[in-house]
Amino acid sequence: MAKSKTVFVCQNCGSESPKWIGKCYSCGEWNTYVEEIAIVGKQSGSLSASPSSASARTKPVPVNEVAVDQVPRIDTRIGEFNRVLGGGMVPGALVLLGGEPGIGKSTLVLQMAMQLTSHTVLYVSGEESPQQIKLRADRLSKDQGAHCLVVSETSLEKIINHIDNTNPGLLIIDSVQTMEREGVESAPGSVSQIRECTAAILRVAKERSLPVLLIGHINKEGSLAGPKVLEHMVDVVLQFEGDRHYMYRILRSIKNRFGSTSEIGIFEMQGNGLREVTNPSEMLLAHQDEDMSGIAIAAAIEGMRPFLIEVQALASTAAYGTPQRSSTGFDLRRLNMLLAVLEKRAGFKLAAKDVFLNIAGGLRVSDPAIDLSVVSAVLSSNTDLSVSREVCLTGEVGLSGEIRPVTRIEQRIGEAEKLGFKTIVVPRYNKGIDFKKFDIRVVQAGKLEEAFKQLFA
Ligand code: TYD
Ligand code: MG
Repeated sequence: MAKSKTVFVCQNCGSESPKWIGKCYSCGEWNTYVEEIAIVGKQSGSLSASPSSASARTKPVPVNEVAVDQVPRIDTRIGEFNRVLGGGMVPGALVLLGGEPGIGKSTLVLQMAMQLTSHTVLYVSGEESPQQIKLRADRLSKDQGAHCLVVSETSLEKIINHIDNTNPGLLIIDSVQTMEREGVESAPGSVSQIRECTAAILRVAKERSLPVLLIGHINKEGSLAGPKVLEHMVDVVLQFEGDRHYMYRILRSIKNRFGSTSEIGIFEMQGNGLREVTNPSEMLLAHQDEDMSGIAIAAAIEGMRPFLIEVQALASTAAYGTPQRSSTGFDLRRLNMLLAVLEKRAGFKLAAKDVFLNIAGGLRVSDPAIDLSVVSAVLSSNTDLSVSREVCLTGEVGLSGEIRPVTRIEQRIGEAEKLGFKTIVVPRYNKGIDFKKFDIRVVQAGKLEEAFKQLFA
């Protein structure tokens, strides 16, 4: 028997090296090289390589003469999922769905599979037995599910056999880390296995115009486990995220060859599966009538949708020398920056205070327009003066204490008005907007002091 050759492969980016190295020269990550058995020569052609179609495809043509047959997108029957995909699944597209363990990836795809009665769905699971899938399916849906075929399988060759035999309209693979291909000697989940298996699935998907949903795990650093190579190969990368202790889940698009990446889908995990949240604001605002200190409402935009979100802060005298700063759902460095601005530009003494910040509902918000409500909540807690619950705020805070303009201000004001707020504080520098057309009172503020005067007068 020939001696098998080994190479070291970066588990982050897929670069190879003949010997072990500590730092990847390609992606710069440390300690990511793992010894894998090299794939010698070409793979056997058993996975339906079709040379005839290749030669037909390789003639250059002017782009305006390329024939496109308008393929209808497949409606997934889950509105929020369609929204993130840009209108539904595209035939032949490879969609990678990533997320931490237990966040609800299998639940989401099974729910979709059960509802997609118009297509034969092949659900391949390398993690659960058909019995387990059946138990979950019973919880999720009352439908019979005769169109949804389940199989517990990890061998790529057998999966491709099943595709040939059942001719599905949608293929689901849970998860890509469990698949293994014969002839690739590395363990399932290694870069070589993932790359080879995904490439083979990709070929089948494109040949048959079969849409494929791949589930992928996320590693402890929060990126899709294994390799960046995977993200390059697929057409769409979606991420399912949320705090496991809360019921809200957000589906984000990181890459989409067929649509925008700015959309998000919001779900709520319930006892019988995921429920779509079409009106996020109403759920995210805690329903209290009393005014309380330390709370400010922000008019934020995540994806394309405006929603109002509650920012809670607690500032208390530090018990130890170094004050603690902690934040949930908001960037801690940004919080530190905002506290420094409050200290230096607005003259509030926060250096000896512990500051805790929390975005209600377990959401992670990256919209800078919530800055103004973050500083207002901190200040409200520090002075023990409440911000009226009829007021909401939007604005980015700059280093000199100025309130900087935000995007899509009219949508934010519209959402606040719709939810019955009486006043909204907006940046003065958002010019060219006719605020008179709104029924809500719009207060323009150029500096922090002006906003505070409005809130705490
Ligand atoms: P799961 O889809 O198995 O997560 P993943 O595939 O991402 O690892 O879902 C895991 C969690 O969802 C599990 O801890 C229980 C919860 N869950 C519900 O709350 N309601 C339900 O109807 C289902 C099916 C799961
Ligand atoms: Mg799962």
